[in-house]
Amino acid sequence: MSDVLEVLEPATAAVLELVPAAGVEAVDEAVAKARAALPAWRGLAPGVRASALRALADKVEEHLEELALLEARNAGKPIGGARGEIGAVVDVFRYYAGSPERLMGDTIPVAGGQAFTIREPLGVVGLIVPWNFPLLIAAWKLGPALAAGNTVVLKPAELTPLTALRFEQLVLEAGIAPGVVNVVAGLGPVAGARLVEHPDVAKVAFTGSTVVGRQIAASAAATIKRVTLELGGKSANVIFADADLEKAAEMAPWAVFDNAGQDCCARSRILVEYSAVDKFLSLLQPHVENFKVGGPLDPEAMMGPLISAKQRDRVASFVGADAPVAFQGTAPDGPGFWFPPTVLSPVDPNSPAVREEIFGPVVTVIPFKDEDEAVRIANDTIYGLSGSIWTRDGGRALRVAHAMETGVLSINSNSSVRVSTPFGGFKQSGYGRELGPHATDAYTEIKTIYYATT
Ligand code: NAI
Ligand code: MG
Repeated sequence: MSDVLEVLEPATAAVLELVPAAGVEAVDEAVAKARAALPAWRGLAPGVRASALRALADKVEEHLEELALLEARNAGKPIGGARGEIGAVVDVFRYYAGSPERLMGDTIPVAGGQAFTIREPLGVVGLIVPWNFPLLIAAWKLGPALAAGNTVVLKPAELTPLTALRFEQLVLEAGIAPGVVNVVAGLGPVAGARLVEHPDVAKVAFTGSTVVGRQIAASAAATIKRVTLELGGKSANVIFADADLEKAAEMAPWAVFDNAGQDCCARSRILVEYSAVDKFLSLLQPHVENFKVGGPLDPEAMMGPLISAKQRDRVASFVGADAPVAFQGTAPDGPGFWFPPTVLSPVDPNSPAVREEIFGPVVTVIPFKDEDEAVRIANDTIYGLSGSIWTRDGGRALRVAHAMETGVLSINSNSSVRVSTPFGGFKQSGYGRELGPHATDAYTEIKTIYYATT
């Protein structure tokens, strides 16, 4: 077990910072602090907790440029995208600042008295997040968890702990008491696993791989811990021949190459109606070839490197005889974990490139003959997170949207996530929903109280 995390800059492969690795003891200490901070935090008047979250949003906004630069360098993403992400972090805290005063229950007619429900915080909540959108995915969990009156222990990914560690300081600067938010930067199988098995942690909210999601659900069963899981995806971008093909071809690269494809919502399978395949591919090719790859401070970069050498090698392994390159863009040479935007076609439907989550800038193109076949192929995966439908036939768009087994869909668009709408997966993409007005429910218990009147 190493006691230092060597945090790299993916664009250069150089060490960015050495961070002491939190082990089991550090996690236990963090949980104890969170437990000690719980009574005061949950006991705040709702309006006071709301003000604290607004102050936190303001504090993050004040440090937006600093956090964006840290995220861009550590996660290997263009600075413009990183600014957008930290801006979205601010939005999340502002949005959930509205929740403490809206944690409402029901009054229910019963015989002989009055029944009503109240929502209470769960207690100490463990948050385990990945390296693709480090602080933003943490905020999706922190916002509703804190709003509902829980205290938290956040475990960032070992590859990208820097913004979380800085955020922990900003929480205190925002006037929130020590112990309400605790960050433990440690290895998944050590610090993450301890958080999941800890008897004083009431819930774990996880985003990451399906493999680890399964382990977490199994381990959490021992203490009947609440769990929400946002896992992998293999989403379909379904393009009918009657669609605005120019627009579909312009947006398709963004739908999968954004964040270098390291996005659980990536539309990594493009399904195209047979009669439009040739035209679509010829429209797509220049957009792919001109999808600029560059470092965090390159103002023209549309995507950066992959997160690690391991991830780059894994992504490269999907290209092969069963999934050959049709065309691809270019990527910088030299150090750094670069991989060019790549389109694979024609593909064997059973190839790993078609079946597995690639999590890189690689997309497969699969033809279909009609609406039924499009739906069958779109649903032929263990995953069900996201997807897009491109057509000018409104009735068909809605029929296909109803038939697709996926948690989030967009029609004539590649957008997936917004703070005010629920986000999460069907099937093995996980369970539970984040964001939207009801996300706080997942961080509360309902208590039913009956008051006899006779
Ligand atoms: P991972 O699932 O191992 O890492 C995600 C988080 O889980 C990290 O904080 C990690 O430290 C933690 N973790 C790892 N093992 C754990 C354990 N036994 N107990 C508790 N926490 C644990 O993801 P990894 O290995 O970095 O990436 C592998 C693949 O997973 C990617 O290629 C991609 O396909 C998928 N992935 C999907 C993500 C998504 O947003 N849905 C995010 C990251 C990865
Ligand atoms: Mg892993």
